[in-house]
Amino acid sequence: MALLLLPLLLFNLFLPQLEDVLALPTPSDYDFTYMRSVYDASDLPLGEEYEYIIVGGGTAGCSLAATLSEKYKVLVLERGTVPAAYPQVLDVDGSLRFLIQVDDGYTPAQKFKSEDGVPSARGRILGGSSMINMGFYSRAEEEFYRKSGVQWDMSLVEKAYQWVEETVAFHSDLSDWQSTAKEAMLQAGVGPDNGYKLDHIVGTKAGASIFDEQGRRHGAVELLNRGQPNNLRVAVHATVDRIIFSSNPSSLSAMGVIYTDSKGKTHKALVRDPGEVILSAGAIGTPQLLLLNGIGPVSDLSSLQIPVVHANPYVGKFMADNPRNTISIIAPKPLNTSYVQVVGITQDYYIETLSAKVPSSLLPPSLAFLSTIFPLDVSVATIGEKIPGPLSSGSLKLSSQADVRDTPVVRFNYFEDPQDLAGCVSGMRKIGDVLKTSSMERFKFRGFGGILEGFVYFGVPLPVNASDDLAMEVFCRNTVETFWHYHGGCVVGKVVDGDLKVMGVNALRVVDGSVFNRSPGTNPQATVMMLGRYMGLKMLQQRSQSN
Ligand SMILES: Cc1cc2nc3c(=O)[nH]c(=O)nc-3n(C[C@H](O)[C@H](O)[C@H](O)COP(=O)(O)OP(=O)(O)OC[C@H]3O[C@@H](n4cnc5c(N)ncnc54)[C@H](O)[C@@H]3O)c2cc1C
Ligand SMILES: *[C@@H]1O[C@H](CO)[C@@H](O)[C@H](O)[C@H]1NC(C)=O
Ligand SMILES: *[C@@H]1O[C@H](CO)[C@@H](O)[C@H](O)[C@H]1NC(C)=O
Repeated sequence: MALLLLPLLLFNLFLPQLEDVLALPTPSDYDFTYMRSVYDASDLPLGEEYEYIIVGGGTAGCSLAATLSEKYKVLVLERGTVPAAYPQVLDVDGSLRFLIQVDDGYTPAQKFKSEDGVPSARGRILGGSSMINMGFYSRAEEEFYRKSGVQWDMSLVEKAYQWVEETVAFHSDLSDWQSTAKEAMLQAGVGPDNGYKLDHIVGTKAGASIFDEQGRRHGAVELLNRGQPNNLRVAVHATVDRIIFSSNPSSLSAMGVIYTDSKGKTHKALVRDPGEVILSAGAIGTPQLLLLNGIGPVSDLSSLQIPVVHANPYVGKFMADNPRNTISIIAPKPLNTSYVQVVGITQDYYIETLSAKVPSSLLPPSLAFLSTIFPLDVSVATIGEKIPGPLSSGSLKLSSQADVRDTPVVRFNYFEDPQDLAGCVSGMRKIGDVLKTSSMERFKFRGFGGILEGFVYFGVPLPVNASDDLAMEVFCRNTVETFWHYHGGCVVGKVVDGDLKVMGVNALRVVDGSVFNRSPGTNPQATVMMLGRYMGLKMLQQRSQSN
């Protein structure tokens, strides 16, 4: 344990949060081996050369980096810090805090609001959004592969998933609320009971989670532990803003990147031929970087006076996010925090549940009296629905300043497609049925002097008449939130080819959720991590064949 702590302590000589790290619940329960490869960007030379440069140490970037480092020198550039600097992200009870707290420009969740008016967030920390998410781990459905535009080698896909799962996928007992929700979904007809499964198939199942039985998060960052330490270098507080291109316009190539450290110094990192720059900055960050570097729609670039390096009208297009509509109730007895463990899958919608504690001080005035029963916090149980796809999509543009630290302007156009809206209506109707099952009776309040009887809703309840299509549609539109499964912006066949190479530019690839034209599986992270491993293996194969 002392050995494991050492790199953390060393690291924190240049980080201010030393007390936080020492307050880590049980550091020996996490595998921080990756810290041996991690440097603060300001400690790196101002000019260096690598075989592969990966922009973004996120969900896809970590598995890709570990894999490429098996044979080649790899540099990962991550704008955020290490998870140990914010130990709350490592624990199920502390994780949500960054979605609620103020974003100070450094915290692990960068908040943004889409033009749809829906608040959202994306990861800004080593391990990316897998360090701030709800943990559910579920593989992709058959349709995802078929429609993805990639010629998948399915045996390699299987191997890549297994590699990921050895490190980050945990099968825990269901919490009280999750097992009740599973029973209730089955009672409401979302069958068959598929037990515990990693695959995405119709019925109700328990899936894996990156949270272990003790509620410790094992995000994509732990995949870096599988890298070859001599070849792997990970820089944190390294914000990339420029891609360096070859000066020969007839064969445009990426030659490296320029990044800025926390002291404002710029560094140059170059790739050695036949190496590559790989963008893994996520569905918001990757299209943003392409646009900032002159790859995108001519009109958008010209209006910001960005010189066009390569015109492509589809960069930032097909931005999609799966809408989330939920019903929350206050549990009559305290519940443990549980992120998603079970899911009900139908053709038209997927139902997921979670439970969390909310400080009683945050109760709305109409429920404030509950603080006499629960002085500290109330347990809120949530059941929500997500539609596959979705079919609706929008776009992403740079905000006028064109600074890489600014969130671009993004719009997802939730429910623009009538089929998406119909999916929500059927899903929410089913949730109405779930609430009526006998399994749910235990979650009704009873006997508080007759004042409280039945469910106590936290937020908007379902319309009284669930058969009323119009009322249900209005409910869906008015209560829409994000499932944080935004994807697109660099989709296959439009911005990247089937090998995920940026069309029209050599030595530049995209490996992250921005290449997807639908969100894979019930939830995407399993497939995003698989993609990093899969593409890494493919690249190693292709390079050994061309030698
Ligand atoms: C709150 C929340 C809950 C979720 N719940 C679940 C769930 O339960 N199950 C599930 O499967 N999925 C869930 N997801 C979705 C899932 O986590 C994401 O789809 C996935 O992590 C995206 O991976 P990515 O590699 O595409 O991007 P990310 O993991 O976001 O990685 C991008 C990385 O690039 C870095 N970066 C960006 N720009 C730059 C730059 N210019 N220079 C340097 N670095 C840069 C970022 O800091 C980040 O680390 C959730 C997401 C959120 C936000
Ligand atoms: C909450 O978790 C603790 C520790 O894991 C466990 O002992 C307890 O039974 C759980 N309570 C409920 C209500 O699930
Ligand atoms: C519920 O809505 C349906 C469809 O609009 C309608 O036919 C029915 O009369 C409504 N029921 C009640 C009780 O209002």
